[in-house]
Amino acid sequence: MSLDAFIAGLPKAELHLHIEGSLEPELMFELAQRNGVAIPYDSVEAVRAAYDFSNLQDFLDIYYAGAAVLLTRQDFEDLAFAYFQRAAADNVRHAEIFFDPQTHTDRGVPFPVVVEGLIAGMDRAKAELGVTSGLILSFLRHLSEDEAFATLEAAKPYLHHFIGVGLDSSEVGHPPSKFQRVFAAARELGLKLCAHAGEEGPPEYVREALDLLHIDRMDHGNRSMEDEALIARLAAEQMTLTVCPLSNLKLCVVKDLKDHPVPEMLRRGLHVTLNSDDPSYFGGYVNANYIQLAEAVGLTREQVTQLAKNSFEGSFLSDADKAARIAEVEAYAAAN
Ligand code: HPA
Ligand code: ZN
Repeated sequence: MSLDAFIAGLPKAELHLHIEGSLEPELMFELAQRNGVAIPYDSVEAVRAAYDFSNLQDFLDIYYAGAAVLLTRQDFEDLAFAYFQRAAADNVRHAEIFFDPQTHTDRGVPFPVVVEGLIAGMDRAKAELGVTSGLILSFLRHLSEDEAFATLEAAKPYLHHFIGVGLDSSEVGHPPSKFQRVFAAARELGLKLCAHAGEEGPPEYVREALDLLHIDRMDHGNRSMEDEALIARLAAEQMTLTVCPLSNLKLCVVKDLKDHPVPEMLRRGLHVTLNSDDPSYFGGYVNANYIQLAEAVGLTREQVTQLAKNSFEGSFLSDADKAARIAEVEAYAAAN
């Protein structure tokens, strides 16, 4: 069996996926028409052609504009279910997905419309595709901590729907320290804590995410590799990093996939996982991330298997569920 076929069939979890970033141009057009929303493109091809980014902010500007077509509960359900169909096709068995409530509430879409729609899509995915999932409420770091607190307040009636909080959007100039109090409040509510750190921001931001936010999982983390002491610490703590190779390529975090730090991260004993981030915008879902990275840097079947095991290990599933899913990965690897 080829490595690509092995990857395709491997059971895996996805831990870094922005549901708004899974909005495919075809669905963007369909929703624009359904809702009478004008979009600045005249074809699906024109949308795809606009996805040429030189940094994170270039992408974010287009990503927030694209989200404008999402208005109704049904829109959010359709968005989520479309992602889960693609994830299921990639043998993703569990996904922990981010959503950006402020992107929607700031446009006048009520918080419950967003959450109830996403939950409906997640429930359908479990019933129809057998894919389990959890929802992570992500604060936009270019907005204030007070606005994050208001979002956490709006989330309180829906707390049972969330597994955690996250921190995303424009990193440089918006360090984790800005959100120290709201992360402490989220932890008090029993939520797990994730934060994007070290995608474009310096190793110091990674340290702040660890020491000030007390995160349970780190999103990206690439620039940790510039700091020897930080590498040693992440390895010692076995902090899960949700790394996104095609995102890194499209946002010019790496110049070429051949330069991607995953092999070095694995060599240094870091707890790495592979994820798609915003697959519609970055050119591939989870399997494309595994396959293209494996091809570019020469990952072995053992390394790929380890990455899939890490994805369940680093999830917020119960210990019993983690063990059961890791056993499935091991059984697959033994049989293929
Ligand atoms: N980084 C920061 N914010 C984001 C991203 C990302 O990769 N994707 C969606 N929002
Ligand atoms: Zn992300």
